[in-house]
Amino acid sequence: MAILNVNNLSKVYGNKQKYQALNNLNFSVEKGEFVAIMGPSGSGKTTLLNVLSSIDTITNGSVEINGNQINKLNDKKLANFRKTQLGFIFQDYSVLPTLTVKENIMLPLSVQKIPKYEMEQNYKEVTEALGISELSNKYPSEISGGQQQRTAAARAFVHKPTIIFADEPTGALDSKSARDLLNRLEDMNKQFNSTIIMVTHDPAAASFAERVIMLKDGNIHSEIRQEDNSKHVFYQEIIQLQSSLGGAVDVF
Ligand SMILES: Nc1ncnc2c1ncn2[C@@H]1O[C@H](COP(=O)(O)OP(=O)(O)O)[C@@H](O)[C@H]1O
Ligand SMILES: [Mg+2]
Repeated sequence: MAILNVNNLSKVYGNKQKYQALNNLNFSVEKGEFVAIMGPSGSGKTTLLNVLSSIDTITNGSVEINGNQINKLNDKKLANFRKTQLGFIFQDYSVLPTLTVKENIMLPLSVQKIPKYEMEQNYKEVTEALGISELSNKYPSEISGGQQQRTAAARAFVHKPTIIFADEPTGALDSKSARDLLNRLEDMNKQFNSTIIMVTHDPAAASFAERVIMLKDGNIHSEIRQEDNSKHVFYQEIIQLQSSLGGAVDVF
């Protein structure tokens, strides 16, 4: 079942000076898929993530998530939709320094009408899956960057959203913490059947996904799938595809 349908999606920035950042994109994402979006610097990755997650508006076409055409929702409905159906992981952790790990993770639940036992159950599940259940009462300043990003990931998963959007989630991590986070995202994708859409410039990170959508100049240049369940083979394929694209390697 497609959980995300993108039809003839275009994004044009500017009024006088127009710039077409996304050019008539069509694709869909199945429930439970882990998809990476890649492409050279300026190819439209951030723009795409922003319009899919309703952070930014689209110029043409439609974005449908779980049967909701999000470009047709009014502000109130959209705010509610984002709160209940979407989860976000950003590059810079974005955990709040004055709240404990547990308070940070419970934030999305506290604004929803979810029974307390269910909140605690969800909390237990995600913190165990991310290996941070011992950190409940710590403050962000008392834990490592990797642990902060796992806290941010727990917050993204805790309300069981329809789709989790991750923008360079490993961009600020050392390679060991990055691999650890990606392993856990992969496990949670399987355990909870979560749908994850991740922008990354890093082929190693992308090799954890099941599919890579490669953008170039605002178009879908190509898509490749991990066929034989080998990250290593997939990694090589991603590198090859990247080098065939040319252009600047994206370092944000
Ligand atoms: N707010 C904006 N106004 C005008 N142009 C923009 C804006 N944001 C991005 N762009 C342009 O759109 C293109 C795609 O940008 P972006 O989505 O950030 O690419 P990427 O994330 O792949 O590096 C770039 O040429 C960029 O300069
Ligand atoms: Mg970007």
